[in-house]
Amino acid sequence: MANQLLENAIVITGAGRRIGHHIALRLHQDGYEVIAHYRTLTPEIQALAKLGIRTLQADLSNSKQILAFVAALKVCCKQFRGIIHNASSFESTSQDIEIAVEQYKQFFNIHMMAPFLINQSLQSMLIGEEGCPADIIHITDINVENPTPDFDIYGSTKAGLHNMTLALAKKFGPEIKVNAVAPGPVLFTKAHSDEVRRQILAETLLGKEGGPEPVYLAVKSLLMNPFITGASIPVDGGRRLSKR
Ligand SMILES: NC(=O)c1ccc[n+]([C@@H]2O[C@H](COP(=O)([O-])OP(=O)(O)OC[C@H]3O[C@@H](n4cnc5c(N)ncnc54)[C@H](OP(=O)(O)O)[C@@H]3O)[C@@H](O)[C@H]2O)c1
Repeated sequence: MANQLLENAIVITGAGRRIGHHIALRLHQDGYEVIAHYRTLTPEIQALAKLGIRTLQADLSNSKQILAFVAALKVCCKQFRGIIHNASSFESTSQDIEIAVEQYKQFFNIHMMAPFLINQSLQSMLIGEEGCPADIIHITDINVENPTPDFDIYGSTKAGLHNMTLALAKKFGPEIKVNAVAPGPVLFTKAHSDEVRRQILAETLLGKEGGPEPVYLAVKSLLMNPFITGASIPVDGGRRLSKR
C-alpha cells in the first residue's frame, strides 16, 4: 500500500494539524485520493497514515527540501487532480530588524516560493476530470485585502500568494483552475488572548469562530465547479467588512 503508485491525488500541504489536517481527512472521506504533506510528525499525521493516506515530509522554508518534495511527489503519483497550499507560518513582525530579516525569508519561502515551485513543477501532471479542469487552491487570508499592521510580513507574503493566484490563473488556463480560499477567524490559536478573541468576534458579522469545516466546504465547492478561476472566496463570517 505504502509504495503503490497513486493515480490522481490531491496534495495538501501543512496537513499535520488543525485546518490542513481537517481538509485532508474530509477529502479522504469524500473519496478523493490524498497526499498529506507535513513538516512535524504529529499524531494527526499518524492517524491519516493509518487510514491509508500517503504522507510526505518536507520543510517548505528550504528551497532544497521544496525541490526534493516535488521529486518525491512525482515518484509516488501518476498525475494530480489538485494541489492545496495550506502550509503557513503565522506570527507578528518582530521589532528586532535582524529577526525580521529571517521572518521575511521564511514567510516568503513558505507562502510564495514553495507554492510557485510546486505549481510550476507539477503543471503538466495536473489533470482534471471530464468537463472539469484540475485545481490549484491557495489558502490565503482576509488580511490580503485589509492588512493588520503588526502582522505585515505575514500579510504581505500572503498577499503575494493572492497575486500569484491571479497570475497562475492566466498562465495555467484552460487546463487548470487557480483559486484562493481566504479564511478569517476560523480557528484561534493559543496566542489569541480572551480580549483579542472578544474584539475579533465583535468585528465578525456572524459573531462566532467558524471552525475548519467551512474552509473545507469552500475548497470542495471549488473542486466541484468547472467555471471558476482567478477567484478568492472569503470564509470569514463577514469580518473583512468590519475589521479595523
Ligand atoms: N486559523 C485561522 O483562523 C486562519 C485565519 C486566516 C487564515 N488562515 C490560513 O489557513 C491555513 C491553515 O490555518 P491553521 O490555523 O490551521 O494554520 P497552523 O495551525 O499555523 O498550521 C500551519 C501548518 O503549516 C505547517 N508549516 C509551518 N511552517 C512550515 C514549513 N516551514 N514547512 C512545512 N510546513 C510548515 C505547520 O506544520 P508544523 O506543525 O510543522 O508547524 C502546520 O501543519 C493557513 O494557510 C493560514 O494562514 C487561518
